[in-house]
Order: sequence, then C-alpha cells, then structure tokens
Amino acid sequence: MKSGIFITFEGVDGCGKTTQISLLDEYLCGKNKKVLLTREPGSGMLGSRIRELLLNFEGSISPNCESFLFLADRAQHVDCMIKPALAEGKIVLCDRFIDSTLAYQGYGRGLDINQVKYLNDLAISGLKPDLTIVFDVEARESLSRLHRSKDRMEAEDIEFFERVREGYLEIAKQEPERVRVIDASGSVEAIYKKVVKLVESF
Ligand code: TYD
Repeated sequence: MKSGIFITFEGVDGCGKTTQISLLDEYLCGKNKKVLLTREPGSGMLGSRIRELLLNFEGSISPNCESFLFLADRAQHVDCMIKPALAEGKIVLCDRFIDSTLAYQGYGRGLDINQVKYLNDLAISGLKPDLTIVFDVEARESLSRLHRSKDRMEAEDIEFFERVREGYLEIAKQEPERVRVIDASGSVEAIYKKVVKLVESF
C-alpha cells in the first residue's frame, strides 16, 4: 500500500533536471524526510544491464524494441524499488519515468501515442506519479549544454528533440493537475527556487 509521495522529473537531454533532482534531494534530506533518489533507465543490477543496451548498443534497435526495453526496465524498477520505498512512506524522486517513453518513443520516434500509454500502464501496474515536473527549454539550448560524448539517444538530430519537447508540452496540457512545466532557461539557483516552491505547495 502506497503512503509515500512519488515525484518524477522530465525534460529533453541537457535540460538540467538531474542537477535539480539532486538539489531537491539535499533540500528534503535537510528537512529529515526519507527520500529515495532514483532514475530511469538503469536502477538496480538488471536495470543497469538494460541501460547499457539502450544507450550504448552499437547496432540498430527498432523503435518497438527500444520501447519494450525501457518498459522492461520500468516494470522491474516499479516492482522492486519504487513501490517498496513508497510503502515505507518515502518520498521517491525519479529522474525520468512514463512521460519519457511517451515523449521520446511516442512523439519523438512516432509510435502510436495510445499504444505507448497502454504499454506504460502495463509496466507501472497502476502506479502514477503524484507530481511530474517538466523542465522546459529550447531543444537546441538544452543539447548545447551536454559536454560529454553523446550516447545512442543523444546522437539523434535536432528535429527529434524538438518533437520530444513538443510532446512534453502536449502531455502537460492533457494532464495539468499532475504535470507542471517549469521554464528551465534561467540560472540553476532561479530554477531551484521554482522547484522548491512547487514541491512545497504540492
Ligand atoms: P540519460 O543519460 O539518463 O539522460 P538524461 O540524463 O538526460 O536523463 O539517458 C537516458 C536517455 O534515454 C535519454 O536520452 C532519454 C531516453 N529515454 C527514452 O527515450 N525513453 C524512456 O522511457 C526513458 C526512461 C529514457
């Protein structure tokens, strides 16, 4: 039975969500909250093997196969890590979740949106986030912040990431209660203030 709070962080690669999720983790731990900070893809031993395939496999992966790999990772993550942490009353902060699959495989790759939603539902068996924060920034700016070498997903062209960004905005329009958009073009400090305000009010 769920008694904790489940918050997910979303956005195009380079949007700054990983920095913000660590800052929020520090903030909540500083308030003596019990927090699980986790991410997709690739939490746990099985997850890290799936992550390796998804991000570094050198051959081609079909969009359907890609989706099922992200979803397999999610099913294991939900059942073995997220649900138990929520049952213990923890605040779970997850870097990417269902909306990544909708935005990247649905809007980005062009898979049928309703089908992706259906498959997501199977993978999460009823566990929706209580709050999702989308860090919104122009795709070009977001990608220019990536300074390490690019993985398989990041090697996609700019049009792909523009579709992903539009996808996130569309998801937020469809589920305004759960999905909140934060303008992520400002300084780390300014964005952090917005995140804390949003989470506190929530
Ligand atoms: P990662 O290095 O974790 O990127 P980031 O720090 O931006 O989260 O790589 C995850 C990549 O996988 C990222 O490009 C988004 C993509 N992804 C999907 O395409 N679908 C999904 O369902 C998930 C969870 C991630």
